Amino acid sequence: MMAALFFKIKTAKILKSICHTLYARDYQMQLFQRSAYCGEVNESFLGKEIFLSGWVRNRRDHGGLIFIDLGDRTGTMQLVFNPDIDQKSLDLAHKLRHEFVISVRGKVINRSPETINEKLSTGKYELQVDNLSIVNKANPLPYQLEEAKNVDEELKLRYRYIDLRREEMQSILKLRHKVAFTAREYLDSQGFYEIETPILSKSTPEGARDFLVPSRLSPGTFYALPQSPQIYKQLLMGSGVDKYFQIVKCFRDEDLRANRQPEFTQIDIEMSFIQESDIQNICEGILSKIFDKVLKQPLDLPFPRITYDEAFSKFGTDAPDTRFSLEIKKATNLFKETELKFLRSIIDKDGEVGMIHVKEKEFTRSELDNLVDKAIKKFEAKGLLYVRFKEDGTPDSPVSKFLPEDFLKQVREIIPTLSTKDTLFFVAGKYKESWGVLAKLRLLLGKNLNLIDKNKFKFLWVTDFPLFEYNEDEKRWDSVHHPFTQPEKDWENLELKDVKSRAYDLVCNGQEIGGGSIRIHDSEMQSKIFDLLGISQKEAEEKFGFLLEAQQLGFPPHGGFAFGQDRFLMILSGSDSIRDVIAFPKTQSGTCPLMKTPSKVDDKQLKELQIKSTYVPEEE
Ligand code: AMO
Repeated sequence: MMAALFFKIKTAKILKSICHTLYARDYQMQLFQRSAYCGEVNESFLGKEIFLSGWVRNRRDHGGLIFIDLGDRTGTMQLVFNPDIDQKSLDLAHKLRHEFVISVRGKVINRSPETINEKLSTGKYELQVDNLSIVNKANPLPYQLEEAKNVDEELKLRYRYIDLRREEMQSILKLRHKVAFTAREYLDSQGFYEIETPILSKSTPEGARDFLVPSRLSPGTFYALPQSPQIYKQLLMGSGVDKYFQIVKCFRDEDLRANRQPEFTQIDIEMSFIQESDIQNICEGILSKIFDKVLKQPLDLPFPRITYDEAFSKFGTDAPDTRFSLEIKKATNLFKETELKFLRSIIDKDGEVGMIHVKEKEFTRSELDNLVDKAIKKFEAKGLLYVRFKEDGTPDSPVSKFLPEDFLKQVREIIPTLSTKDTLFFVAGKYKESWGVLAKLRLLLGKNLNLIDKNKFKFLWVTDFPLFEYNEDEKRWDSVHHPFTQPEKDWENLELKDVKSRAYDLVCNGQEIGGGSIRIHDSEMQSKIFDLLGISQKEAEEKFGFLLEAQQLGFPPHGGFAFGQDRFLMILSGSDSIRDVIAFPKTQSGTCPLMKTPSKVDDKQLKELQIKSTYVPEEE
């Protein structure tokens, strides 16, 4: 009896296994064979039989023939279905629609000369199909991929997985992978350890709001998602790790802009027993490897360095675009004796006048009016003054009668190359505010006058930032970077506004792509800084007691840096929006139309967390 049962089970198992093998073989043979990627077909494939699998991008019926563009992540390849080769495949090809998933077998042949497509890497060849299988059908798409540029972004994000099929998006995903991989490889070669740090964490003071996660096990308490791994990486230096890195997600609940996302990625590093230049050399090393291996172009090293004060006085910003000049010049002295009322009142209140000089461009009246309008309405300037010159050198401006006859001569003391064909723009006000307006005007002029070479990458280290900035709303001093940044030597004898930090930012094409600093490793200095930032001893103990304690248990001198990987990729790929370089980004209002996040949760879940929502939706 037992033997018979055993025999039955064994036979059933064997039969099942044979069926499974047959089915699996059949399935694989019929459904998805692939011996090459579509975009990789080249001359060496000519005359060979290959298998391709991918998506139907386009179908054209020509008399008795059908042509299909078959696409995958590498590009597209033209398929031709010919009744003389295989009638069955041709019949089936009539059923193909956009984005059907298919698998084909065929011979690679030359296209006839008049049908060669030089724009396509595979444009000289086509695959003469002798076997087609439809792997999966597709309903009509919500939009055609080739029309993506004109499609509403919300709709594209709702169908992000389809949008990512586009060649442009695939190449960004590839670039992103290569950049991260190259950085990893380089940092490994320099002795860095990749170490993960917690995501369920505590608030880190990077200046944004935290995303909070309620704890079920400790009701009434919350984790904060890390705004960066800043404190953990410092603690790792206390552990003797010496060289740390991590390609890490950071979370910041702040107002979103074209170059900001609520979750973004940093290439984060920290090192012990180092100076600023050691860290900057490593950062330059990473970028040089990326340019060499991924972009296949050389990078000029070392990057220029400029202090924060110089950057602000020349460009009105700490993240200047140095692909073009148009530097700001101080011109207050030109108007010392002015009777122009609005300038007089600004200068009398210690305001400043800044000037931008545009060489040999004859602006039309409407171009000038447009600039004035933009400066006032968009850049929040109180006014924008422009001065041109007549051929005899006398000023030509809406305020000419208030300008001295020899104005040109006076300006030449600041700009010796000034000519009568040039135009000057002036903005007056408090230094920070008026230079901020001039920074925006400079960028606008750079764009309008085509002064920006889009193929250039201009890097710049900005150093010697102020340590503190005054927060007018809260009436207190804040850190410009974060409270763990070390001040420059002898800082204690200076007024807070004059204290400089050992922080440095890396700027590329006018965007801050990373920042770092030498850190405080001494608990006394750390406590003093907390005190100056208005953090009471009690609060410091509560929030950062563990760090102050660590600083007293053998803490090495250390410093680090974090690249904003997404921002850097935006620049490398020439994208205008950070969303283009992230596989599944959030919209401007922080939502994901695909997964529909954020979303409501069950009352049961809230109950478990002992949380009650007080939110009342507004009535429509
Ligand atoms: P920081 O706050 O300057 O420094 O951040 C480093 C870089 O991260 C990028 N970045 C962002 N990218 C996209 N979306 C955002 N919301 C966003 N916020 C910042 C920027 C920025 O230069 N812990 C320190 C680094 C250190 O001191 O080592 C830090 O996070 O490109």
